[in-house]
Amino acid sequence: MVLELKCVSKTYGSVTALKDISFGVSKGAWISIMGPSGSGKTTLLNLIGCLDKPTSGQILLDGVEISKLSEKELTRIRREKIGFVFQQFHLVSHLTALENVMLAQYYHSMPDEEEALAALERVGLKDRACHLPSQLSGGEQQRVCIARALINYPSLILSDEPTGNLDEANEKAVIELFEELHQQGHTIIMVTHDPEIGALAERKLLLDHGQLMPR
Ligand SMILES: Nc1ncnc2c1ncn2[C@@H]1O[C@H](COP(=O)(O)OP(=O)(O)OP(=O)(O)O)[C@@H](O)[C@H]1O
Ligand SMILES: [Mg+2]
Repeated sequence: MVLELKCVSKTYGSVTALKDISFGVSKGAWISIMGPSGSGKTTLLNLIGCLDKPTSGQILLDGVEISKLSEKELTRIRREKIGFVFQQFHLVSHLTALENVMLAQYYHSMPDEEEALAALERVGLKDRACHLPSQLSGGEQQRVCIARALINYPSLILSDEPTGNLDEANEKAVIELFEELHQQGHTIIMVTHDPEIGALAERKLLLDHGQLMPR
């Protein structure tokens, strides 16, 4: 099991964002998280991605209990084990595609141009390495983000609405890339509103008012 949640709850003041969430994810699985706006999808992804801590319950990542770790330890685990792909691309606008990927290497280990180029090649963008984000299509920018997420060989790829800002053609390219990553054995957890994209996963988790709906 790559990931295990046991009775995880998260409250913000009087708001219960998540209540008693329990599930496990095995290595190589593709899980989609669906549910209405405000149901707790992003909150759940943030907890799994060590960006936030649960109010109660346990989260085990590669067997390590992360819910009680310090901020510093969470940062280390995030860098080592998690690859994020967000709806907003969060690319640095004055850096090229290659430099954006190298920045992720810098945070994880040592910048290595060849390795960064190889990551861009994996997402089909080697010939765009020297382009700035503004010189790339939305789909291409998202593929740079995926290259950036892959740089630390993450145990988990977490993605929050990765196609939310893309037109149909770019959405297709990005989803095909996720399918490829899945075939290569990566573990993917993806939040989506789109039923067609949700259906690509082998398992769907449905959230409603912070609770996991039985299926
Ligand atoms: N930092 C915060 N402080 C207070 N309340 C929060 C915070 N973050 C989220 N919430 C609340 O927790 C609930 C779940 O929010 P969350 O962002 O996880 O929903 P979501 O399912 O991702 O929605 P969407 O589909 O609109 O992105 C909401 O009621 C939200 O208002
Ligand atoms: Mg959200």
